[in-house]
Amino acid sequence: MKKILMVCLGNICRSPMAEGIVREEFSHSGIDVQIDSAGTAAYHVGESADHRAQFELAKHGIDISKERAQKFVAAHFDEYDYIFAMDQSNYNDILRLSKNESQRAKVDMLMNLVASGENISVPDPYYGGDEGFRHVYKMIKSAAEVLVENFSGSHS
Ligand code: 4NP
Repeated sequence: MKKILMVCLGNICRSPMAEGIVREEFSHSGIDVQIDSAGTAAYHVGESADHRAQFELAKHGIDISKERAQKFVAAHFDEYDYIFAMDQSNYNDILRLSKNESQRAKVDMLMNLVASGENISVPDPYYGGDEGFRHVYKMIKSAAEVLVENFSGSHS
């Protein structure tokens, strides 16, 4: 079973949303994958997802109330097959912990699934309003659809 890790800064907004949305997308596919999430910063370790993130996903029938924030650590390179960064700074922070090319090859920015090589960031919604969370949902949903399509072609 392939394992996928979603990574943002705090692991309370974007990456727990990505974990929930991608898990939901795979749940209809018949493909068995493990999805988790982590943050490059430790500020919120042990906390549940931001209530605005939980609310946005609840609108789409996805429950992320049980997720708890953890920090991204170098051991995750061995544990996961694919590591997706939400933004460019998350990507840089992840790569800084990598030791070799095979670890670096596991890492990409999530939105490169949709717009290959364009390095588009999922914007941090933490300091904004609900509209930011709606925007994050739409972006991640589009990437989740491509991810499941890719797996359907090559891993089933
Ligand atoms: P996330 O959002 O990286 O999408 O979880 C943030 C959450 C918390 C902070 C920044 C971004 N913070 O600075 O505490």
